[in-house]
Amino acid sequence: MRAMNGDAKKTIYHMALQELDAVLEGVDDPITAMATCACVLHQKLPYASWTGFYRVVAPRLLRVGPYQGPLGCLEISFDRGVCGAAARDRAPQVVPDVHAFPGHIACDEAARSEIVIPIFDPRGELVAVLDIDSHQPGSFDDADREGLERVAERLRPCLGGGGAAFYRKLTTEEPPPAA
Ligand code: SME
Repeated sequence: MRAMNGDAKKTIYHMALQELDAVLEGVDDPITAMATCACVLHQKLPYASWTGFYRVVAPRLLRVGPYQGPLGCLEISFDRGVCGAAARDRAPQVVPDVHAFPGHIACDEAARSEIVIPIFDPRGELVAVLDIDSHQPGSFDDADREGLERVAERLRPCLGGGGAAFYRKLTTEEPPPAA
């Protein structure tokens, strides 16, 4: 598949946000919101091979959440992979070539490029990362980062209920000493 141009991507993200605006109205369950978001994005992005969330479930530990695509790794430490880097730095990671990213975790051997966006709750606490993989190299660029950051902002008010207090406690605790 040829790389998609920025205007085409903007249109896709615009449509995804319109759909999310409609379906997430009043939603305050984080898992429901993440599952809905993973579904909408995966269906709208033709270059996505895996679309989903890793949630912060313990100090410096991510666990797979709602996703679409082949089997994902179950847990990822903040010290590892593209997801770990996004969680650790609380910053988006755009990786045109996963083989050139030190420590990339190959859940899917066919993955060639990846983008990961940190997800914050209404209090600004990191509760998850949104991860999208592609089987084509160089699938993701600034248009994806901008589009997905807007998606993350749309999700934010949906992440205050349910497990948010639990996540908050976990993200502010010190990690346990290494065994
Ligand atoms: N490649 C990711 C791991 C998650 S899978 O892509 C679904 C990483 O390096 O963090």
